[in-house]
Amino acid sequence: MAQTIYVLNGPNLNMLGLREPEKYGSATLADVERLCGDTAKRFGLDMVFRQSNIEGELVTFIQEARLKKAAGIVINPAAYTHTSVAILDALTLTELPVIEIHITNVHQREPFRHHSYVSKAAKAVMAGFGIQGYALAIQGLAGIIGAKEK
Ligand code: DQA
Repeated sequence: MAQTIYVLNGPNLNMLGLREPEKYGSATLADVERLCGDTAKRFGLDMVFRQSNIEGELVTFIQEARLKKAAGIVINPAAYTHTSVAILDALTLTELPVIEIHITNVHQREPFRHHSYVSKAAKAVMAGFGIQGYALAIQGLAGIIGAKEK
């Protein structure tokens, strides 16, 4: 049976394409979903792709990943990266490999974006590759969970 990965997206990422295109580019979240789906397929992985503007909903998705025995999580927690102990706690309790991803290089931006609660639970962090970072994050996760390229 194929392994399943969860790709989770936090607040305002539903506005990709419209949102500050000089920072986030012109691709939409639907484009990101397509890119992730194609990449997951390359490694024989099934994918659940979600976005929410609501912190608690993201916590529920993360808990679901554990309950459904997912193989790992790629998450762009967006602004909750810098504020959410609840998301950190949820990721920690899953005991799953977690890859944190940011479209922009958060370390080049405002000081409040330099700290991530989520990094404490992340096996790896990807930042600054634009939406291509999602594909790189899935490729990295595939390596961690032993999924081979088809
Ligand atoms: C982001 C960076 C965060 O600081 C910001 O709040 C986002 C997007 C990124 O993908 O670069 O919403 O996670």
